[in-house]
Amino acid sequence: MKRTLRFTAFALVAAFALVLAGNNAQAQQKKAESWPVPAEYKNMVNPLAGDAASVNLGKTSYNKNCASCHGKKGLGDGPKGRNLKTFSGDFSGAQYQGQTDGEHFYKTKFGRGEMPAYDKKIQDREIWAIVNYMRTFKK
Ligand code: HEC
Repeated sequence: MKRTLRFTAFALVAAFALVLAGNNAQAQQKKAESWPVPAEYKNMVNPLAGDAASVNLGKTSYNKNCASCHGKKGLGDGPKGRNLKTFSGDFSGAQYQGQTDGEHFYKTKFGRGEMPAYDKKIQDREIWAIVNYMRTFKK
């Protein structure tokens, strides 16, 4: 009995230490630097309406291509995202939601650093649908 107790206490301390180490790894991610977008893209009009059909298409593609880093809800906490050097962003907040559709489109299409470019993998139309889906992350 005493042994079981001691083991339980040890396991708890070990689990706690692991959680702390995990949080720390995330806290050490560097914040992304500002990412200027050329005016022609910034002012682009999204050709798709933000209706259920495009949001659903965007959701399927987002979950397949983006959630591993950006997380299911766009909080930057996907399993792969936690191990990146750069924080991939919080898509629920004003910093992200305050950008134009064109800015989201441009960054997805061309990427930079640890953010992959999707211009050769995903068609423009589908990227616009993902942009619509990512609007649903707004808090
Ligand atoms: C391998 C991990 C990874 C994957 C997969 C990934 N991203 Fe990213 N993304 C990042 C990182 C890291 C950044 C921050 C890059 C920087 O600013 O230098 C980022 C930044 C972004 C930004 C800019 C955010 C802002 O606040 O301005 C958008 C938009 C974006 N990603 C969309 C997507 C979409 C859409 C997909 C899927 C089609 C995707 N990403 C897939 C890692 C990823």
